[in-house]
Amino acid sequence: MSTLLVLNGPNLNMLGKRQPEVYGHESLADVEALCRQTANQFDVEIEFQQTNHEGQMIDWIHQARGRVNGIVINPGAWTHTSVAIHDALIAAEVPVIEVHISNVHRRETFRHQSYVSLVAKAVLAGFGTHGYQLAIQHFAFLDTPRTSQ
Ligand code: DQA
Repeated sequence: MSTLLVLNGPNLNMLGKRQPEVYGHESLADVEALCRQTANQFDVEIEFQQTNHEGQMIDWIHQARGRVNGIVINPGAWTHTSVAIHDALIAAEVPVIEVHISNVHRRETFRHQSYVSLVAKAVLAGFGTHGYQLAIQHFAFLDTPRTSQ
């Protein structure tokens, strides 16, 4: 059974209350439930975390090394600012899928730059919370034996 770490950065604890016209009405607890339901379908185990503290996020990323099969991360605003999270993701040597609820590319120009995309296997933006589900499904797909790639 594979294990995925689902990480959420700053302000995502406010999901459902914060700018619902941008991020929708679902809470982070709803997103966690969706992730767990999806993981169960594929016999994948998930660990789901959120923090507003960059050092905590970096510690979780380091602890993923050699322990989990993939990281699904919505880094929130750290996407656009954090070289430290970029470096931590490289150090972890775990495949990363970057998820954004909103389509960051049709928003302010400061959201068009991502330090995380430079180290991510794939990026999902604008799918709403479904992006988390798609990321988990993709890791499960990679884990499924196939006759051809
Ligand atoms: C976000 C997009 C970021 O630009 C923003 O700072 C967030 C959420 C998203 O999920 O769309 O906090 O990562």
